[in-house]
Amino acid sequence: MPKDHQAGEAGTVRRWLRPRTVAPFALVGAVGIIGLIAFSPGSAHASSTATPAPVQATANTATSSQASAYVSSNANPPHLGGQAPSKQLGLYYITLPRSYIAPGAALFAANCSTCHGPQALGGTKAPNLQGLGAGTVDFWVSTGRMPLANSSIQATRKPPRFNRLQTLEVSAWVQSLTPGEGVQIPVVNTSLGNLEQGNTLFTLNCAACHTITGAGDALMDGAYAPTLHLATPTQIVEAIRSGPGNMPRFGPGNITNTNARDIAAYVTKVLQHPTNAGGIGLGGIGPVGEGFVALLIGVGALMLVCFWIGDRA
Ligand code: HEC
Ligand code: HEC
Repeated sequence: MPKDHQAGEAGTVRRWLRPRTVAPFALVGAVGIIGLIAFSPGSAHASSTATPAPVQATANTATSSQASAYVSSNANPPHLGGQAPSKQLGLYYITLPRSYIAPGAALFAANCSTCHGPQALGGTKAPNLQGLGAGTVDFWVSTGRMPLANSSIQATRKPPRFNRLQTLEVSAWVQSLTPGEGVQIPVVNTSLGNLEQGNTLFTLNCAACHTITGAGDALMDGAYAPTLHLATPTQIVEAIRSGPGNMPRFGPGNITNTNARDIAAYVTKVLQHPTNAGGIGLGGIGPVGEGFVALLIGVGALMLVCFWIGDRA
């Protein structure tokens, strides 16, 4: 009796290990692994791990020890971020110190003038920068888009070439060519942000291009709206006010400073830290990834049912 029972069990196992019962599992497994690799957030940011080329720090030796303090953080030097009247709102704009202009001029001459021209007026290789303001320059340099390494269809986010102080110095020099014009550098206090309001404003103004999760998506003509998962509050407000590349520019008439603060808070506090309350996040890339997984599990299960029915008949 125990012997029979054992033989029966082994028979069942053998019956289930036949190729056509194992095939669906193998298929589901293989496609699942491919899907995980293709949709894992790691692959999307693979380029950001490239090591940045060294900066030729010219005429900047006097401030270099001071500069190193800001290399790792994206915070503005402590003596900036002062006594602006609108500080209570959690978003205000600063004027960079005059002492930044001279070292900024040297950095620009060494790293930017070959394309943008000695007076930043642009030319055949690159656009005019005069009148754009320190905030626009800060956005392009702090996100590593500039200095441009090779001409692609759209400048991409890279590890920044300059530290925080050098970035502000270049920005100060470009600003000094057209004082008061363009986008100034914002200081954003996201702890004062209203996340619910930020959610509404983001859905209305940004999600069409950057998707509801902020993961980004392709646009027309080879352009794309990048992921927002790497942007700082300062960069978010600078993007809103300056409208980089194919992104529209939102003035204070469309998005007030309070609105911009709420959007920056929502992106950095909610979108950049998804809780995935409903289960695994699947990379947060939206319906494509989710549909893929649903199809995979659904088709796999259906195949199993079909084989099981076939076996019984
Ligand atoms: C190899 C050439 C090249 C170099 C070097 C370069 N740029 Fe650019 N820059 C470009 C091009 C091309 C664009 C337009 C890119 C785009 O629209 O995606 C651009 C765009 C910009 C913009 C945005 C202009 C706008 O109209 O919105 C800013 C700001 C900028 N560059 C600043 C700098 C600064 C500061 C440096 C030096 C740190 C620098 N660039 C170095 C080629 C260059
Ligand atoms: C019409 C499509 C469109 C809309 C709407 C839009 N963006 Fe963008 N956004 C873009 C594109 C395109 C870029 C890339 C620009 C470039 O690099 O040339 C971008 C870049 C950015 C970046 C830089 C990301 C990084 O890390 O490099 C931020 C931040 C950003 N957008 C925030 C926003 C916010 C906030 C809103 C809503 C207020 C918004 N965008 C609305 C298209 C859009």
